Amino acid sequence: MKIPLLRIAYDEADIKYIKDEIEKVLRSGYLTMSGRVKEFEARFAKYCGTGYAVGTNTGTSSIEIILRAIGVKGSTVIVPSNTYMATPIAVIKAEGRVIFAECQRENLQIDPDDIERKIRSDTKGVIIVHIGGIISPHIEKIREICRKKGLFLIEDAAHAHGAAIDGRRAGSLCLAGSFSFYPTKVLTTAEGGMITTEDEEIYKKALVLREHGKGDPAYNVHVEIGDNWRFSELHAVLGIQQMMKADWILKERRRAAQRYNELLSDFEGIRLLEVPSNIEPSYYKYIAFLDERIDRKDLKEMMRHKYDISLPGEVYSDPCHSQPVFKKYPGKAVNTIDRFPNTEYVCRHHVCLPLYPGLSDSETEYVAASLKECLASCSVRQRQRV
Ligand SMILES: Cc1ncc(COP(=O)(O)O)c(C=O)c1O
Repeated sequence: MKIPLLRIAYDEADIKYIKDEIEKVLRSGYLTMSGRVKEFEARFAKYCGTGYAVGTNTGTSSIEIILRAIGVKGSTVIVPSNTYMATPIAVIKAEGRVIFAECQRENLQIDPDDIERKIRSDTKGVIIVHIGGIISPHIEKIREICRKKGLFLIEDAAHAHGAAIDGRRAGSLCLAGSFSFYPTKVLTTAEGGMITTEDEEIYKKALVLREHGKGDPAYNVHVEIGDNWRFSELHAVLGIQQMMKADWILKERRRAAQRYNELLSDFEGIRLLEVPSNIEPSYYKYIAFLDERIDRKDLKEMMRHKYDISLPGEVYSDPCHSQPVFKKYPGKAVNTIDRFPNTEYVCRHHVCLPLYPGLSDSETEYVAASLKECLASCSVRQRQRV
């Protein structure tokens, strides 16, 4: 059996729908920012439970637009070091400076106590990232810290389409949320991003910034320094198709994750993430911790060569604070020399298993059985090395 690291689940009916709709777009003469973009935005806002949604060309520009709409120039913004570099880079592009915060070992999410410790007089806000599609069980505490200190709190929900806590979906939990539709993401439009918010002012500013800073998209009168962060009608076709399948996609991801939870619960050498019952993850990634003695590279190679199973990339294997770009531009992040032992631990010791809609029970069983054998061989090898 061959298990690839990713399958994007388009069936024949999906492909027919997409082809027909793209043909209609091509014949309409409106290739960008028209009815289908509006429809996708309306559907996505409804899905997240927010009043507004603004489609953009990438998840990175969605974060930047939110930060520019709020205004972070000359301020610091706290972000987890355990995230994709797009999160801190968006702060820098919006002319803010980054403060990195630690994550919690048990759930990989930003540590509320470290947020509190890292706040400075020039700190304007915090970005939380729902790593792996899991919402922090401490989001309420983080919200409270931000409220007390007068900081904004926004979500980088690039991993978390459809994830929920206490019945509320990602994208609706803070002042604004940002999503990515990159192909590996839970919902995809090939490329693309989305801003969600209840805040009318952020919504209106986002519309202006997305369209070269025009006060009204119909006229070339520029009132802000914006950019071309628009969303095309072709991408919107893909987005509408994903909205029609979103419930099924989430159900499938959760089914596969549940199956792994059952199969792996008593494996030696691996520890599963514990997710409180009020949190419904999107399972952007299925994450488990490896015994510290197991070499992740060895394990992945064995799974690949012996069992034809490609394990996907780690959520993040290299923490942001350690990225070489910060040596080149040292002022952009203020605390890269701090210590981040939890972040370094989780980056080094977790592994991700293949998880996508359509992954059958026999496939998850094959992955689990192969993993058990690899874990046993890797432990023996490690003992022999010592
Ligand atoms: C946490 C996080 N934030 C932001 C982004 C950026 O999204 P995009 O690639 O659409 O710009 C990604 C994408 O990989 C991400 O994983």
